[in-house]
Amino acid sequence: MTGDDPREESASGEPTTGEPLTDGGAAGADDVALDPWGSSSVSDYRNLFEEFGIEEFDEVLEEVPNPHYLMRRGVIFGHRDYRPVAEALQNDEPAAVLSGFMPTGDPHIGHKLVFDEIIWHQQQGADAYGLIADLEANAARGMSWAEIDEHARDYLLSLLALGFDPEEGELYRQSTNRELQDLAFELGAEANFSEFQAIYGFDGETDVSHMQSVVTQMADILYPQLEEPKPTVIPVGPDQDPHVRLARDLAERMRFFKVSEAYASFELEPDERALVAAFYERLEPEAFDDEQLRCVHVAEALEETPLSEIEADADTLRSVLTKLEEAGMEPVRPRTRFFDRRATDEAFDALIDAIDGEKRVYESHIDAFEIDRAAAEELAREVEVETGGYGFQPPSSIYHRFMTGLTGGKMSSSIPASHISLLDDPEDGYDKVKAATTGGRETAEEQREKGGKADECPVYELYAYLLTGDDDEFAKRVYDECVGGERLCGDCKEQAAQLMKEFLAEHQEKRAEVEDLLEEADIELESPRRR
Ligand code: TRP
Ligand code: SF4
Repeated sequence: MTGDDPREESASGEPTTGEPLTDGGAAGADDVALDPWGSSSVSDYRNLFEEFGIEEFDEVLEEVPNPHYLMRRGVIFGHRDYRPVAEALQNDEPAAVLSGFMPTGDPHIGHKLVFDEIIWHQQQGADAYGLIADLEANAARGMSWAEIDEHARDYLLSLLALGFDPEEGELYRQSTNRELQDLAFELGAEANFSEFQAIYGFDGETDVSHMQSVVTQMADILYPQLEEPKPTVIPVGPDQDPHVRLARDLAERMRFFKVSEAYASFELEPDERALVAAFYERLEPEAFDDEQLRCVHVAEALEETPLSEIEADADTLRSVLTKLEEAGMEPVRPRTRFFDRRATDEAFDALIDAIDGEKRVYESHIDAFEIDRAAAEELAREVEVETGGYGFQPPSSIYHRFMTGLTGGKMSSSIPASHISLLDDPEDGYDKVKAATTGGRETAEEQREKGGKADECPVYELYAYLLTGDDDEFAKRVYDECVGGERLCGDCKEQAAQLMKEFLAEHQEKRAEVEDLLEEADIELESPRRR
């Protein structure tokens, strides 16, 4: 996929066959394609864990203070590295949340998930950012500036109406944020075309502005850390995961120093290091006469140990032996190593001064003997920030399930009946829910006997994702009554349709009320660009 097709897709989640909420994983056989500009369809969420290394949200849930109902119900199903954010929220330490919206159409109930996620984090104390991805909409979707302005306004009104506090948080559009673009330029120096090709399928036909919109998004993701490094979460649909991974890489590449652990002057790969660490413990260094355990001693011990007792493959063993033998009589001593990756001379010197205790300085690294890994990481970041670096922490992400279309299949903004726009007339919202497909059986009789298939029902999703709000008992009641055969689709849809109508009416009233708030907010509503 070249990524050039102006098709559906967005951070906030359009597509797919929706997945059950209750099985925490969902079955399905299709391939997973994570393409930010394609029509991602995710029908097997388990694959995302196995194939892409996304972690299960359930595993961090306990560490989250007052978890949002989308977290409790498994709608937010996955994350990357969310722990530091949860921890910061818990301890009232600095944290940030940021997400972006491409103003290509009306905001709909899929986007509401992301609005809610931003707002919830803001309410838990995080610095909150909502951005309008107007450069991306123009470059990747060919939207005109007039269309962009109109949609941008609609997104912002809904975000405010749902509770975003613009005085505490920040709203911006990519095209008018100078600092953002400076950061994008700097990040661009750390990325190249081959990489974009591999990640996004860009090719010789991809226009340069589209590529620029990628570095802009990288800058968006790191923007909350310009002031100071802090845990930052990016709530998005899983189609945005390639962006998150690249941003995490770039954050790392921008760092001045890389901290690692070593035992002697030479470098070790992670599995080699584990092997040396194990033997270092086993050999009891104190037992050596001059208190000097030497590299050859470790090599000898390794050679005397039966292969079956060594937890490493043959290649690892061979290369460790070579390194140890070459180092010969060099003492083995655990140390923390600071590599100079892109530090200025000033920063390198400042780090040397900042390291307490015994240290050895080399051409492009420093070994410290009295400071552990965690303290070293902290020190490296501190020195970097003091000497003009960013000290970025790798950004975290959380992923929500895509909603099923009301007509089955994907929820898509180009098929009006498949989604409910936040701007839909409440009566139309009512009608759309009434006309939705369900997980019901052929006949009422069969439904009473076997129960409905709530896990495959777009109407049940509406209850769980939106209509029951924070009321878990209500959501559970709908589910239990459905699968227990006590609930029939006609009444169930009538209730959902009614709730949808009320939600839309209330939301639209609030949108009208926050018009002033938007006028006062520090964001340009009209683009000076007109082509
Ligand atoms: N690419 C996102 C989309 O397709 C929009 C976006 C731009 C974004 N910058 C972002 C999302 C930063 C999250 C974080 O909708
Ligand atoms: Fe869906 Fe409600 Fe019918 Fe169950 S009873 S299948 S939840 S519409």
